[in-house]
Amino acid sequence: MILDGRSPSAIGEAARALARGALVGFPTETVYGLGADAASDEAVAGIFRAKGRPSDHPLIVHVSDAEGARRFAADIPPVAQRLMDAFWPGPLTLILPRRPEVAQAAAGGHPSIGLRCPAHPVARALLQACARLDPPLSGLAAPSANRFGRVSATTAAHVESEFGAGLLVLDGGACEVGIESAIVDCTRGVPVLLRPGVLTRAQIEATCGERLRDPQELAQPAPRASGTLESHYAPQAKVRLMDGKSLQAALDVLGRDAAGIAVWARTGLRTASPGLLLRPMPDDAAQAARELFAVLREFDAQGVRLIWIETPPDAPEWAGVQDRLRRAAA
Ligand code: TXA
Ligand code: MG
Repeated sequence: MILDGRSPSAIGEAARALARGALVGFPTETVYGLGADAASDEAVAGIFRAKGRPSDHPLIVHVSDAEGARRFAADIPPVAQRLMDAFWPGPLTLILPRRPEVAQAAAGGHPSIGLRCPAHPVARALLQACARLDPPLSGLAAPSANRFGRVSATTAAHVESEFGAGLLVLDGGACEVGIESAIVDCTRGVPVLLRPGVLTRAQIEATCGERLRDPQELAQPAPRASGTLESHYAPQAKVRLMDGKSLQAALDVLGRDAAGIAVWARTGLRTASPGLLLRPMPDDAAQAARELFAVLREFDAQGVRLIWIETPPDAPEWAGVQDRLRRAAA
């Protein structure tokens, strides 16, 4: 059931459902989340069941402010504090040492916890309504609202198509960012970028005051987690990434027979195939991020077999889109 997220009564209803242990789909500025009371291991188990996600893959806990983060984090190192001050509320998740007594299931049993303070007004209203309940819920565990390994949801209708009409979903419109938050692990002594998002590496490093490490540089590997698996964000159709020239060559070979093929590309391609499903990739990285998951879903809905995507430019602002496309194609 989709409810208007701007309606205070819908927010109230969603908060009460969460308190009863139910799941609720809600918008954030990045992608929609599938939320549950982070303190309830039973409610959180419902997320893993609904998504079909392995239960040792940790979830992100959403809090309404830095104060909320302190209920879950055992320690907030100075670099994490600076990142929170600079980017919260916003599309940045921090991995911090977890208070051992909280959110065991949400953390997938790991000694750390992923925390994020979303900026979307509907997410904020929901978190605030949860905090006003008696007893209060202090955080919402919420992975992206898609089945395990599949394309993330950026509209309420996407969420409903993943989990059915039985799920309460708050509608907050199409997500403005469109790809998931950047994740910085602050438990390693040095900050590590586990997942790129729309914040660029340079923006994050300027606040950290030091270089962001990559997971491959760590002696101890990061825990296996969904967003970092080789294959993820995958539509039903097979995805292939190609540079503009190879894409043009492939289209030339096709001739008129393009049934079952879709293309997302920036350059002006020539095609002799009237049936080709061709969508323009925006030149602007932020706009491309906004459209990415909806385009993949549209192609799937059209029942295509193959999706050919032009490799995005090798520029820092495209890192988040690059990362999602590489995994969609893996
Ligand atoms: O933008 C987002 O981050 C969205 C919205 C809903 O907030 N959420 C999201 O959640 O993308 P999810 O579960 O699809 O991805 C969470 C990722 C995991 O796959 C993992 O990579 C990382 O966060 N993560 C969470 N907790 C972690 C931990 N304790 N240690 C290492 N990685 C963790
Ligand atoms: Mg996800």
